Amino acid sequence: MTGKRVLLIVGGGIAAYKALELTRLLRKAGVAVRPILTKAGAEFVTALSLSALAEDKVYGELFSLTDEAEMGHIELSRSADLVVVAPATADLIAKAAHGLAGDLASTTLLATDKPVLMAPAMNVRMWLHPATRRNIETLKTDGVLFVGPDEGAMACGEFGPGRLVEPPVIFEAIMDALRGPAARPLAGRHALVTAGPTFEPIDPVRGITNRSSGRQGYAIAGALARLGARVTLVSGPVALPTPLGVDRIDVETAREMLAACQAALPADVGVFVAAVADWRIDEVFGAKLKKEKGGPPALTFVENPDILAALAASGPQRPKLVIGFAAETNDVEAHARAKLARKGCDWIIANDVTEPGVMGGDENAVLLISRDKTERWTRAAKDSVARDLAQRIAQDLTASPS
Ligand code: C5P
Repeated sequence: MTGKRVLLIVGGGIAAYKALELTRLLRKAGVAVRPILTKAGAEFVTALSLSALAEDKVYGELFSLTDEAEMGHIELSRSADLVVVAPATADLIAKAAHGLAGDLASTTLLATDKPVLMAPAMNVRMWLHPATRRNIETLKTDGVLFVGPDEGAMACGEFGPGRLVEPPVIFEAIMDALRGPAARPLAGRHALVTAGPTFEPIDPVRGITNRSSGRQGYAIAGALARLGARVTLVSGPVALPTPLGVDRIDVETAREMLAACQAALPADVGVFVAAVADWRIDEVFGAKLKKEKGGPPALTFVENPDILAALAASGPQRPKLVIGFAAETNDVEAHARAKLARKGCDWIIANDVTEPGVMGGDENAVLLISRDKTERWTRAAKDSVARDLAQRIAQDLTASPS
């Protein structure tokens, strides 16, 4: 990345201190950083710190005679390969969405002809406010890239989405943006991913579920988003944070998962990783079952819909590429190949769950089975399997027109 240049706009929020660390990471990677510090930003970090870390002059004023003499604001807006706004406050986002140009930062955003990446940071109510929602949609339509925000405890004492993502994550997003469209081969594509277990109720307090952690599916959703896809993740109950840039829909039962998947169509690719319960209780008890009421209850089961098979047979709405998972304990390839045919999908990712450390662990050793071939992937971390699978999906989709 040596020789690449970033124009870094630092907005006014408590998270502005993270812009200093971001500047350090960029400089360490050989990226030149030219900072613009807004008036509000200067309330949180000093121009001196920013300038020392960036090893460059800090710009702040639109009507500065010396700045204009050295480099006009129009030239400044085009002097980089990428414009980064971190933290992107609600105010800066609103100004950019409406094309306002009353100060140096907003004028730069209006005048630039370079890609723009924003890392939002604001109070949760501000982030969820319909005005901000509209502004984000407008900017996304305009082609502005976003990283974050994160969810969690905030400096204002509230909890929820709105935290600036950590500097290493912004750094990675900057690296992707600097690599250009080649790093986002799934831009403009929609991916549907299911993950986690389902929960089938027995009565209002009990149910049937399984031990799926959701990790592999979440990693795949995140990896697809990093390649530029719009990702809808339909998730059973898990204890995992939503991967960056992913739209998550929480469901409990198989039938809810199927309905959410159908509502999310059309999609270019469907990756069905969820461990869906094969059976559900025929009639869910309306009141809590009591131990005293004459021995164990007689539960009757009915079959759940097969989400993968249903989506693979969804006619004109069918995703171009439908991928199922198979956890097998013996004859992995033969069983998985039979499943490929039975479910009508294009690929099966099969793994041998008797391998130590696979179930609930960090690693996976998989076979990619398509109609005409079998690939044996070397054992790797689930994140790495997810990245490789996302790359394979991108290759397959980009080989066919969108
Ligand atoms: O039949 P089996 O459960 O082994 O198939 C596993 C694959 O089918 C996984 O991709 C899983 O997500 C999907 N599946 C599904 N709906 C079901 C059962 C399995 O989508 N009801």
